[in-house]
Amino acid sequence: MEALIQQIETITQEIQNTVATTSAEVEAFRIKYLGTKGLVKNMMGEMKSVPNEQKKEFGQILNAFKVAAEEKLEILVAALGDTSTLDASIDTSLPGDEFTVGTRHPLNLVRNQMVSIFKRLGFAVAEGPEIEDDWHNFGAMNLPADHPARDMQDTFYVQEATEENASWLLRTHTSSVQARVMESQKPPIRVICPGRVYRNETISARAHCFFHQVEGLYIDENVSFADLKQTLYFFVQEMFGKDVKVRFRPSYFPFTEPSAEMDISCQICSGKGCNICKHTGWVEILGSGMVHPNVLKNFDIDPEKYTGFAFGMGVERIAQLKYQVNDLRLYSQNDLRFLQQFKSV
Ligand code: PHE
Repeated sequence: MEALIQQIETITQEIQNTVATTSAEVEAFRIKYLGTKGLVKNMMGEMKSVPNEQKKEFGQILNAFKVAAEEKLEILVAALGDTSTLDASIDTSLPGDEFTVGTRHPLNLVRNQMVSIFKRLGFAVAEGPEIEDDWHNFGAMNLPADHPARDMQDTFYVQEATEENASWLLRTHTSSVQARVMESQKPPIRVICPGRVYRNETISARAHCFFHQVEGLYIDENVSFADLKQTLYFFVQEMFGKDVKVRFRPSYFPFTEPSAEMDISCQICSGKGCNICKHTGWVEILGSGMVHPNVLKNFDIDPEKYTGFAFGMGVERIAQLKYQVNDLRLYSQNDLRFLQQFKSV
């Protein structure tokens, strides 16, 4: 009997797996399993070879087998029924309803391209919260409470500091994410931090109360300013083409020393002079520098052993140069006539 039960199981499996999409296929199923010479009848015939004391048990198995085949047949017939009503009521020769395919936001297109360039250099993407505490946005980045450079970034405070609590704010740069990475990872660290940042600026064509950044951080042994320059040079060439020229100007950021801002040759007028480059032929696109030893110490990274570079740039500025959009407000007004012009980079 064991062999018979085994056989019934195999056939039941086969029944479960059957697909039939036409009425001819469904009829073939019926004949094969439930016809007068079908497998179910066939198995019933085996009853006589089963010893008497096992007949009851085998009878039950046979019955379940038959029910399984009948139920499957019902399902297959019902499915056929559905398609036939569909066929009758729908004129498949009519043109379909059009649907609108959305487009990616131009800032996302540019951000994605920036991220993919840095990924090719081995940078991983790190993200963090937009509502941040004072420590991650300022303190850890070598900007203690009374540091005058805090005024460089007009901050939206969510909660003023109290005796017990430090203040909460909308992050003014994604350096706060760099802080969170240094807090949780050991060098070598190689991350970029894309995200939205907030500053209390009057909204105009040239400024907005929020914008987007991609910042980067690379910490390892023997990281030098030459690495910083080469990385950023590679980036602008990939972004704007091989003809782009760069220049570094000394600058100041509390979290880097030395610090530099990088300009590229104006992509709008090819360096001849226009409104965007204020007739200088150069446009500033980023801040950068070697990570300040105090920042490393804040995260127990030994500045004698490790060095690093960091940089930060605005996605809107890069997009402006790429698409020649001169009014920053367009990026957040959600006007479809504007947005639909950007299908791909
Ligand atoms: N955090 C700076 C800003 O938002 C940019 C920057 C990042 C500068 C890293 C130097 C190094 O303006």
